[in-house]
Amino acid sequence: MLQQVRLLLSTSPRGTMLPRHARGLVKDTLSRTTNSSSRSSSTITPTRTSRLPAHDQRTLKDFLAASHQEVASTAYQDSSEMSVPTTGTTSSFPANPRPKTFTIESYGCQQNAADSEVVRAIMEGAKYKWVEGGGEQGHHIGCDIVFLNTCAIRDNAEQRIWGRIKHLKHPPRRPRSATPAPSRRQAQVWPPLRALEYKKPVIGLLGCMAERLKKKLLEEEAIDLVVGPDAYRDLPRLLDVVEAGEKGVNVQLSMDETYAEIKPSRISPDNKSAFVSIMRGCNNLCSYCIVPHTRGRERSRPLHSILEEVRRLAGQGVKEVVLLGQNVNSFHDTSTSTASVISGGRYEASEGFSNMYKSRDKAGARFVDLLEAVSRVDEEVRIRFTSPHPKDFPLPLLQLIAERPSICASLHLPAQSGSSTVLHRMRRGYTREAYLALVERAREVIPNVSLSSDFIAGFCEETEDEHLETLSLIEAVGYDQAFLFAYSLRERTHAAYHLQDNVPESDKQRRLAEIIATFRRVAAARNAAEVGREHLVLVEGPSKRSTPDSPTWTGRSDTNKRCIFPYRDVPASVRNGEGRGPMVSLQPGDYVWVRVTEAKAQTLFCDEILGRSSVREFAAAVPGPAVAGHGAWTRAGHREVDAGACKLGYVLSEVEYSI
Ligand code: 5AD
Ligand code: SF4
Repeated sequence: MLQQVRLLLSTSPRGTMLPRHARGLVKDTLSRTTNSSSRSSSTITPTRTSRLPAHDQRTLKDFLAASHQEVASTAYQDSSEMSVPTTGTTSSFPANPRPKTFTIESYGCQQNAADSEVVRAIMEGAKYKWVEGGGEQGHHIGCDIVFLNTCAIRDNAEQRIWGRIKHLKHPPRRPRSATPAPSRRQAQVWPPLRALEYKKPVIGLLGCMAERLKKKLLEEEAIDLVVGPDAYRDLPRLLDVVEAGEKGVNVQLSMDETYAEIKPSRISPDNKSAFVSIMRGCNNLCSYCIVPHTRGRERSRPLHSILEEVRRLAGQGVKEVVLLGQNVNSFHDTSTSTASVISGGRYEASEGFSNMYKSRDKAGARFVDLLEAVSRVDEEVRIRFTSPHPKDFPLPLLQLIAERPSICASLHLPAQSGSSTVLHRMRRGYTREAYLALVERAREVIPNVSLSSDFIAGFCEETEDEHLETLSLIEAVGYDQAFLFAYSLRERTHAAYHLQDNVPESDKQRRLAEIIATFRRVAAARNAAEVGREHLVLVEGPSKRSTPDSPTWTGRSDTNKRCIFPYRDVPASVRNGEGRGPMVSLQPGDYVWVRVTEAKAQTLFCDEILGRSSVREFAAAVPGPAVAGHGAWTRAGHREVDAGACKLGYVLSEVEYSI
């Protein structure tokens, strides 16, 4: 399963590069480049060119273990030594003793949330001060800079941002209760607006919408800054440009920017789950999708820098890492340092799937290698990943997921449609039959794996029969979670140029409603079967449903189901299916072994708690992968005891969005 390892001398993956802005202010850089050396993004700390020590017969294991110690002294440079990039220009705020403050609102996918943490690190490195935002409703009064990290995947995502800009550019309104004439007491609480002297913050648009609309966005007076997803290192310089009274734009895409050495500054540092971005961009060019145009080409972060970040997070007490990328399982680190020790071998797609992007047979680490290495950092750290493409689930990857207890048994397999003809128009590279065969294979190899998917209703030229095939695929697969959308035409995509967006809006919405109803029905039935099962749940914190009379915790199972369980002391461990040891109180980040007593919509209520536990302890009770059935232990993180009577409550009420 693992790629064969060989040892070659290695040179530094990156050469020294002088940032263009260090040679002079570049106010407006709009050209798209395909060559990193012409990027205008900011400083990259030079790495030394050196060689890895040669030891014959080293294995991948040796390489990864050694990379831990070697990072500072060889081709790899320890990120702790690397400063977050600086602007290369002097800040124009020296006279102001108060550091400028900034906040970030993130919209759209988890990749944006992760990028916001990179942006925060870059800004803090340039001595700006982070402030907690006032929420999406608020005005962030007193904050100097507000970044909106935007999404462009559908028109409604963009409309939401426009609404937000409109909101931010005007002073906050006096609350209704204070109009027309505030009482003296009200006036004290809510001073007249003139006295408030609302100063519009600098508004910076980041992310996909910035990349899609580029300079056009600056026609909106309130927007001061437009920065694409590969240009965040340039933010401090662009803010200097804004301070000088101009508008700042940098929407250059890059072939190699991964922000690899920047330590993200976590927006919720107490969260026991953390995002780790492993690759960026997408080469698939599905015909409906704007992402390849806004995020650029695929590039993967060097494996050693990912391992370093996971180790650091594990050291900080993080118990779950979510590996992120637009096409996460297409990860392919071909950097010199990795390719010199991991031969990679031929690209292997899921059986029956084709890859729109061909040249993939270079040496280097693939997703399976990365997952294997990450799973060995700390057995008690759970691993999830999103968003994958179904084409990149070769058998060895499925087997690894089945084999490693810390890799969660929950797969996102975005189908988009159940009709082969629609899939062809979408340029997805597979048929309905190939997709169903993958589902079957995944369930064979990883019993009780939970499955989720994305579907688009009313894609170009979709007929009623094609739509019915989507409904039947949802029935046939039986998903646990789904992200469901009506098609929204995006300019510059293949579909916009070559296909007819001819399904009337009313039909799109009706078909979407039918997809939602079908999904709810199958998901509810699957959830009902959870009653009596046992799960290992990672404690996140108090549940929203918690009340003083009945306090409860919330967390997620291995299979990504939301679990609610009572707040009470529990046995310190579990042996032979029974709680053992002294009673302890639970903390966020603990694992707890629970039994499902009631299933509602997408929430499992687990009133029976066996005890605090661990990934190792829970897995030790599993005699091996792939044992299903009542009373038997299964790999998928739960034990079937007795499904019992169907206690179906209500069906799913939420449609979620992910990427
Ligand atoms: N219209 C509707 N949904 C889309 N998605 C991507 N592009 C579009 C579009 N133009 C959906 C796909 C994808 C998810 C992130 O968003 O289902 O998997
Ligand atoms: Fe890439 Fe996913 Fe968009 Fe397809 S749907 S182009 S795989 S981001």
